Amino acid sequence: MRAAISLLVLLLSTCGVQSYVTDTSTQDVSTELKELRDMVVDLRATLRHTRDDVKVLEAENVAVKERLVASETKVQILDKALQDNKAEMKTEVDNLKMKNAAQEAELIAVKTRLEASEAEVMNLKKENAAQEAELTAVKTRLAATETGVENVKKEIGAAPKVAFSAALRDFQEGFTDSVSNDMNLAFKRVITNVGEAYNSTTGFFTAPVRGVYYFRFTVMDRLSAHWMGIKMFKKGVRLMQLVEYDTDGKASYLSSGLTLQLEKGDVVNMVLPKGYRLFDSWNNHCTFSGFLLFPL
Ligand SMILES: *[C@@H]1O[C@H](CO)[C@@H](O)[C@H](O)[C@H]1NC(C)=O
Repeated sequence: MRAAISLLVLLLSTCGVQSYVTDTSTQDVSTELKELRDMVVDLRATLRHTRDDVKVLEAENVAVKERLVASETKVQILDKALQDNKAEMKTEVDNLKMKNAAQEAELIAVKTRLEASEAEVMNLKKENAAQEAELTAVKTRLAATETGVENVKKEIGAAPKVAFSAALRDFQEGFTDSVSNDMNLAFKRVITNVGEAYNSTTGFFTAPVRGVYYFRFTVMDRLSAHWMGIKMFKKGVRLMQLVEYDTDGKASYLSSGLTLQLEKGDVVNMVLPKGYRLFDSWNNHCTFSGFLLFPL
């Protein structure tokens, strides 16, 4: 402001004012002065305005400075926050990295365990397959065995059960005489007769199935200068005849047996030859037995 006034005075003194004083009349000078005064007034007004403007500008400047300071403070705060944030983030990133590394290690461990488990599963599968194969083989053998057992059962089941034994006299001690004809012997005292193939009324055995049978007999007499004999017949045909002669009056035995192949319905019986006799008592000296060996 002071600088502007000094400049104005200097300007007036150097050129304009001195010329007016020297070159014009008094009236003119007063007019000039008046004009000058007006000019100065104008200038003063202008100066005032300018001063006001400067004040405004200064106030604005102060406000701007304040805002700048505020902004700088804000920037500092933000910068600090940013730094803090950065540090925080770095810590967080470090933590995450560590976590990640730990998780990777864990993952590797889990993978290793998984691989081990898979290997174990594979082994178990192999073992299982082997066991299944073995089981199948055992099953096959079992089935074959079962079939065999079934067949044996069928054979056994199909084979009739045939076995008998009978003694000659039914608890009555005494002689059996043929006198004048060959005499069919009925062994009356049944001891065993499974299958009822032996008829104690007739003394005939009748084959219930085609097969191989075994028959045996024992007979006794008390001989005193006497013959004893016995015959076995199949279907009315004589198969064997045994004889004995003795003189001491004590027991003599005849005993033998035959394996016979019979058709179903074939008969077997024992015959006392004409003129011979036998002795029996509760001791069962005379017996006739037979059984089926196997069917054909
Ligand atoms: C034994 O034979 C007699 C005479 O032929 C007959 O009457 C009887 O029924 C037969 N017994 C059996 C069990 O077949």
